[in-house]
Amino acid sequence: MVDSDNTIAGAVAIVTGGGTGIGRAVCLALAARGASAVVVSYSRSTQEAEAVVAELLAAGCRARAVRADVRDESAVAQLVASTISDFGGIDILVNNAGATRMIAFGDLDAITDDDWDLVLGVNIRGAFTVTRAAAAALRRSEGSVVNVASIAGYRATGSSIPYGVSKAGTIQLTRGLAVALAPEVRVNSVSPGSVTSRWMGDLIGEDVAAERREKESALIPLGSVATPEDVAEAIIALIDARFVTGQDIIVDGGKHLLY
Ligand SMILES: NC(=O)c1ccc[n+]([C@@H]2O[C@H](COP(=O)([O-])OP(=O)(O)OC[C@H]3O[C@@H](n4cnc5c(N)ncnc54)[C@H](OP(=O)(O)O)[C@@H]3O)[C@@H](O)[C@H]2O)c1
Repeated sequence: MVDSDNTIAGAVAIVTGGGTGIGRAVCLALAARGASAVVVSYSRSTQEAEAVVAELLAAGCRARAVRADVRDESAVAQLVASTISDFGGIDILVNNAGATRMIAFGDLDAITDDDWDLVLGVNIRGAFTVTRAAAAALRRSEGSVVNVASIAGYRATGSSIPYGVSKAGTIQLTRGLAVALAPEVRVNSVSPGSVTSRWMGDLIGEDVAAERREKESALIPLGSVATPEDVAEAIIALIDARFVTGQDIIVDGGKHLLY
């Protein structure tokens, strides 16, 4: 149960995609703020999720890795049920799991039904499915949800048209859920620009991704692309902000101000 002075001390959290990148940084930030338990949810990255669990335990936070593809309702139901039975409830949900495919904007014929199904299925329907499954527990704890959207939800940039559509959808999902789950539960989102996670490297190769990030840094008012820890800090700020709901914070070092 959350104490009255610190929204995170003593809290039980689920972080989807918690084994890597932004998700890992969120798990560690929650532990640093005194969360009592963090469930590191993943779909493929077993070793990475187990490594984060080891880091959390070393930090004095109870932790467990649970495999759950966010598109799979029964796996998600299990994720929620096991969190409640192991740790007594759910105070914080971070819907961070995300998927994309690299498809040039001009090449409409290259976009397949499978691309739409994957990207909308994970990024929108997945976040909805986990939130709905956790909603009763979140209401009981008067908890908080943070979704991870993207600057691609505002601008016609990013890895593909389906990805941008999905992240615009994530921002709107945040607003709808904020109304649906009020007054007990707050729902907000963050929209990162480029981040130094494996994300772009997985799409275009790490060398090319690193080169792009370096060039992009020169165009960013704050002088660099975000680290996963920068994004986690904004997520923590939204968990802390007790009268804020349905809002999205852009975490791009001010880049969007210039175009
Ligand atoms: N990096 C960027 O430039 C950037 C910019 C804006 C927004 N974002 C968003 O930030 C979030 C985290 O990305 P990241 O940068 O930290 O990259 P990442 O390390 O590749 O993280 C993506 C995470 O999503 C999980 N995931 C993917 N499909 C899943 C599924 N079907 N079910 C459950 N989990 C699934 C992955 O876990 P498994 O490996 O176990 O499947 C992985 O942990 C994503 O939502 C992404 O869209 C990233």
